[in-house]
Amino acid sequence: MPTYNLTINNQTHTVEVDSDTPLLWVLRDHINLVGTKYGCGIGQCGSCTVHVEGNAVRSCMLQVSQVVGMNITTIEGLSAEGDHPVQKAWLEHDVPQCGYCQSGQIMTAAALLKNNPNPSDREIDAAMNGNICRCGTYVRIKEAIKTASK
Ligand code: FES
Repeated sequence: MPTYNLTINNQTHTVEVDSDTPLLWVLRDHINLVGTKYGCGIGQCGSCTVHVEGNAVRSCMLQVSQVVGMNITTIEGLSAEGDHPVQKAWLEHDVPQCGYCQSGQIMTAAALLKNNPNPSDREIDAAMNGNICRCGTYVRIKEAIKTASK
């Protein structure tokens, strides 16, 4: 099996996996970064969202061989103390219900605000559209994004 050096949360991790192993499973099963969640495995729900080179991507849809040499950030590496503005706004608005999708929601929101610090309602809707929440926390998610953008 090939060996890959991956840069995740500013640390180098070496994993020995098949080249087509999804990044999601590398993160969860080989590096024990289990904040990134498996929802659908087919790019439809957003619960597996991480950042690659600062952009929100679905880790279930990326093969490990595609992300070698790139900067990967998971929810565990978004901030040192859970104090990213999006994380603080999430707490302020008590966003999660069951919580399962929330790391993906936060990663998508953080990437949105990095690229567009003051998004309109329409831009928030467009950016968050692909992140599904079975509990329906969408109203609080939107409010939290607005708070984080201030
Ligand atoms: Fe990746 Fe659903 S688990 S989009």
